[in-house]
Amino acid sequence: MTIKSYKGISPTIGEDVYIDDSAVMYGDIVIKKDASIWPLVAVRGDVNHVRIGERTNVQDGSVLHVTRTSEKFPKGFPLIIGDDVTVGHKCMLHGCILGNRILVGMGAIVMDGAVVQDDVFIGAGTVVPPNKVLESGYLYVGNPMVQKRKLSDSEVAFLKQSALNYVKLKDEYLAEA
Ligand SMILES: CC(C)(COP(=O)(O)OP(=O)(O)OC[C@H]1O[C@@H](n2cnc3c(N)ncnc32)[C@H](O)[C@@H]1OP(=O)(O)O)[C@@H](O)C(=O)NCCC(=O)NCCS
Repeated sequence: MTIKSYKGISPTIGEDVYIDDSAVMYGDIVIKKDASIWPLVAVRGDVNHVRIGERTNVQDGSVLHVTRTSEKFPKGFPLIIGDDVTVGHKCMLHGCILGNRILVGMGAIVMDGAVVQDDVFIGAGTVVPPNKVLESGYLYVGNPMVQKRKLSDSEVAFLKQSALNYVKLKDEYLAEA
């Protein structure tokens, strides 16, 4: 895998994290215990920081980046992802904040300043515009994005289960190494 420092700051990788050989990570990134980063993922913590929580998985081809500070936005937009989040294949997460137990469907785009509360399902291909707040317990889909419906109890349970499935999968990959 390619892990590079930027301005003297290197990614910090937690215990039992799996990072595929083809992933690239630069700069101020912290990845917590049992997370997994799958093939061809690019994470760039250069002009702001990136945080990835415990048991969170970032699937193949996803791109994670941030926005620098400016006069208008003195903190810029870091990227903060909580625990037990599933980021599906080929997602774009840019300068946003994701809580815990979220599924970001394949090909979704989440833009600067968006805040996704805990227990949210973002459908495949959804575009989350800048600064939107996605309310806990709902399914969001589409472009333009809409709050489609409340999640059922079993769908909420699946959000956590999806993350646990990926913990098991990454443990199998780690055992092969
Ligand atoms: C959201 C999802 C779970 C569908 O759930 P579902 O139970 O079939 O959805 P519903 O039947 O309740 O659909 C609700 C509405 O949203 C629409 N819809 C569902 N998924 C949609 C999507 N991704 N984009 C746009 N509209 C979508 C449905 O067509 C339906 O529209 P209608 O009310 O006009 O008929 C599924 O489409 C999805 O996006 N899954 C993501 C899977 C994924 O990416 N996993 C990560 C990789 S491992």
